[in-house]
Amino acid sequence: MKRILLIVGGGIAAYKACELIRLCRKAGIGVRCVLTEGGSHFVTPMTLAALSEQPVHTSLWDLKDEAEMGHIQLSREADLVVVAPATADLLAKMAAGIADDLATTLLLATDKPVLAAPAMNVRMWQHAATIRNVATLRGDGVTVIEPDEGPMACGECGPGRLPEPVAIVAAIERALGTTPASAPVSNAPPAGGSGRLAGRHILVTAGPTHEPIDPVRYIANRSSGRQGFAIAGALAGMGARVTLIAGPVTLPTPPGVTRVDVETAQEMANAVAAALPADAAVMVAAVGDWHAEAAAQKIKKGEAPPALQLHENPDILAMLARSPRRPRLVIGFAAETEKVIEHATAKRAKKGADWIVANDVSGDVMGGAANTIHLVRESGVESWETLPKDDVAHRLAARIADALEGD
Ligand code: C5P
Repeated sequence: MKRILLIVGGGIAAYKACELIRLCRKAGIGVRCVLTEGGSHFVTPMTLAALSEQPVHTSLWDLKDEAEMGHIQLSREADLVVVAPATADLLAKMAAGIADDLATTLLLATDKPVLAAPAMNVRMWQHAATIRNVATLRGDGVTVIEPDEGPMACGECGPGRLPEPVAIVAAIERALGTTPASAPVSNAPPAGGSGRLAGRHILVTAGPTHEPIDPVRYIANRSSGRQGFAIAGALAGMGARVTLIAGPVTLPTPPGVTRVDVETAQEMANAVAAALPADAAVMVAAVGDWHAEAAAQKIKKGEAPPALQLHENPDILAMLARSPRRPRLVIGFAAETEKVIEHATAKRAKKGADWIVANDVSGDVMGGAANTIHLVRESGVESWETLPKDDVAHRLAARIADALEGD
């Protein structure tokens, strides 16, 4: 039986934790609860203990608990740590690594995957500090699910409501691997195959992202996804288990590859975090740099064109490269039109990547069939002749196999 450790934070949405426990148990998932001091103002330990049929833990200083079930031990028997509701305060402490009560100490001490379901007032959710904290947590490999939009207990309306317990259970099941993440389509052969990369899990991102402006319009770029798909196919051809996280493209899934389709940069960041751990990551996607505050309804053509308020997207590559769950080999791409090697070398340092595959896009590369590559590594630069994208993919896959074999 899969087990979760459920941390119930201090918000009015804590009452939904009761339904969450009931639904988890119905789905065959065991639940043990930790209640924060704030949470105990909204639900009682007795309620959670009755629903989970397990003792509820509340204090770091409960000597009996520490003797029988130390705070480190507590998450050891769980397959996943779930924070619901995750308040702005809990998210901030998690992002900063603060451990000043049982819940936050557990979160800092655990080596288990963590899923957080935020719930807070809309302005707290949209505050720059919370946006920063959520981005940090996602970069650290924490799955932070999006809150719902709608009327809130505080009388305001907007994103920040705790998702319905059924939706949280679905996210828990995805994280536990009892249902597939983002409904991936698998072309993968059975495990235990052969090839130089057999037994390795490699993540590949590919394609553009679409950032919605309203329900019918979006910001996109000209990436075709062809190079990333070719790399995913070449790695699978060498025996790797490949998770291809693809933006909106119209390409067939290469044989042997498990594909997760996403639309926005944020969805791509979530899918990358959900697909970890991995031995290597090849970030080929042309991730949009900004997203807009999407209008709920189609924007009407008016007298003046609408002014788009743009916000920066998470840098998936940079976050992954600095994450504690960092794959051993992290590879980024750099599309450059001038001073290609100089810019790629700077990008390697800035992003914290092991390698940068720099391509000269001054010609017909975006959507074209060939690529001119300079492979920038710590040991130096290797410049390749202009090659079809399939050949680039095979050569890069061979370099990856060399590097992983050399570990
Ligand atoms: O910063 P720039 O877009 O030039 O960096 C390109 C590299 O960074 C590519 O490997 C791309 O996949 C990755 N990237 C990312 N997330 C972003 C922007 C770029 O993973 N938001």
